Amino acid sequence: MNPYVIMISVIAALGGLLFGFDTAVISGTINFIQPYFGLSEAGLGWTVSSLLFGCIAGVFIAGKAGDHYGRKKVLMLAAMLFFISAVGSASSHELIYFIAARILGGLAVGVASILSPMYIAEIAPAKYRGSLVSMNQLAIVVGILVAFFTNYLLVDTGINNWRWMLLVMAAPAILLFFSLFLVPESPRWLVARQRNNEALTVLTKTSGAESAGKELLEIEETLKIHKESVFRDLMAPKIKPLIYIGIILAVFQQITGINTIMYYAPKIFASLGDSNQSALLQTLAIGCTNVVFTFIAIAFIDRFGRKLLLLIGSGGMMLFLFGLSSLYFMKQTSGIMVLVFILGYIACFCASLGPVVWVVIAELFPNRLRSKGMSVAIIALWIACTIVSIAFPIMLEKLSGGITFLIFAVICLANLLYVWRYVPETKGRTLEELEHILTKNL
Ligand code: BGC
Repeated sequence: MNPYVIMISVIAALGGLLFGFDTAVISGTINFIQPYFGLSEAGLGWTVSSLLFGCIAGVFIAGKAGDHYGRKKVLMLAAMLFFISAVGSASSHELIYFIAARILGGLAVGVASILSPMYIAEIAPAKYRGSLVSMNQLAIVVGILVAFFTNYLLVDTGINNWRWMLLVMAAPAILLFFSLFLVPESPRWLVARQRNNEALTVLTKTSGAESAGKELLEIEETLKIHKESVFRDLMAPKIKPLIYIGIILAVFQQITGINTIMYYAPKIFASLGDSNQSALLQTLAIGCTNVVFTFIAIAFIDRFGRKLLLLIGSGGMMLFLFGLSSLYFMKQTSGIMVLVFILGYIACFCASLGPVVWVVIAELFPNRLRSKGMSVAIIALWIACTIVSIAFPIMLEKLSGGITFLIFAVICLANLLYVWRYVPETKGRTLEELEHILTKNL
């Protein structure tokens, strides 16, 4: 694989790292911000989910701004927002400022969640596109692990510990901002702005001089209409089915329950009677499983294809959730098996739905509509994420763990059937070939 492509993908994936960090860091601060700001349980829920509302707005803005100003400039803006959010939330003395800073962080997460995978998909050679876009997911889970770990290290630093936990994010934000100066603009965006010579220079570096000319012609062919796209274009009969696939996959990624574990792991373990220390260690085990199993997806996604990974992964998630649910029904939740089933479930997610959904969403749409199409699918993803994270504690209390995890298991089964029946295989083809095939066969 071309080292230059790897370098620019890693830089873009720093956006994913900040996304992961920012969504996970809050879990370690909860016990300290709740008394500091005098929050009720409901107040805490809203404070924690304020970030998610920012995300939804961020994706919407990035879908438009990414087309207008380019992927790179808008990612730079996200880096600045991450920095302001880190400093702002860490130095807040009043709840209103804290929430405002978290919403700004959410805007940045939203922007990064669409533009990092989009940018990587647009600069990646077809043969490695799956692995390269999956690197963004690797960065997300590394970000989550770093957050769990720095929270753990900073917990004993006194009454301002939560401020330090939040401030950590300023460092990768600065790194992202400055390293973005090293990356070129997406060749597909450059062609859309009729800057073909610049696009050719980038393609020569990413795909080699031999195929650059051919690729440029193919991209030009797909971007013949020089009018900026609008959201309404997504309702064209040939595009509508792709939008449905994008939205449904995005929603399934969330309603199969991954963030019930990601956001609430310490709470789940504590509710089963574990000590704080052991709850934290188990949470770190989750963080490590995330990272290790994402490598499996990176290794196999371009060889076995997206669909097979999704099918095996959803099947595995379903089985582990059935197992977890039965432990609750049998009141056997005090042993090691809870951890084993949770780790098995996480491992299956990380080798499948975690990375693959982002990859497929970045590949489904034609060049002219990618930004808008991705933003609709990813907004659906964040809305589903928000609903699940607000509903989960209520479900656990009102329905019990047994029924709650049983529901998620059944949703995994539905996801498996949906993927099997409706999701197209996208491996190995250029985005332009996909555009041709996907919009023709519909
Ligand atoms: C999901 C996030 C999740 C993360 C870590 C991502 O693919 O979109 O919601 O927190 O993976 O598992």
